Amino acid sequence: MKMKIVYSEINNIDLSALVTLITRLDHRGLLLAPAGDEHYKLLGYISLNLNNAKIVELGTHNGTSSTALSINISNHVRTYDIRDMYSVREQPNNVTRVIGNIFDLNEQHHLLEADFIFLDTAHTGDFEMQVYEYLRDNKYNGFIIFDDILWSDEMINFWDKIPNDIKYDITSIGHGKGLGPRGNVSGTGLVDFSGNIELIRNI
Ligand SMILES: C[S@@+](CC[C@H](N)C(=O)[O-])C[C@H]1O[C@@H](n2cnc3c(N)ncnc32)[C@H](O)[C@@H]1O
Repeated sequence: MKMKIVYSEINNIDLSALVTLITRLDHRGLLLAPAGDEHYKLLGYISLNLNNAKIVELGTHNGTSSTALSINISNHVRTYDIRDMYSVREQPNNVTRVIGNIFDLNEQHHLLEADFIFLDTAHTGDFEMQVYEYLRDNKYNGFIIFDDILWSDEMINFWDKIPNDIKYDITSIGHGKGLGPRGNVSGTGLVDFSGNIELIRNI
């Protein structure tokens, strides 16, 4: 299934209908923040451009990103966290939450079944590499977004190791704001195992 990510369209995504679900007031602001500052509009855009898809998220935290991903009710979002910090007012019907590390739970097959994976965990580089190698070695055929690829030296080293022909730095439409070793930027990276993603960088 071919999918175009058209840069000029990301900021048209309106997540305001989801805002009252978010109990953390600061996260309400994040959900509505422009693409390039925060990644939530990008997640909403991707979900709206997939249909009847399986989405796996690693790193639920308070539930802000899984709520953005839930915007298209034809998709199912399966989200993992090693701690239960979920604070969404009413869990969307198309979100399933799981507590634990997906590998420790022996549930990693869900990664291979996903059309799209969003990974935003502890940013130490090792878990990111474990997921990347698992997908590569098992011939995963979807795409994955790694949040915070510029957040730490470990994340920068991890990102440097991903082959150039399948990786794209999409920070300008993702998570730009932050504080990392390369300045005021967190960084968002897309790895396309499917070969089906076309980036239209028209802004
Ligand atoms: C930066 S927060 C995620 C933020 C969330 N994705 C959002 O944008 O709203 C990182 C989360 O990853 C969780 N985490 C750390 N290691 C993990 C792992 N191996 N699997 C799943 N979650 C993990 C932490 O407990 C924390 O809640």
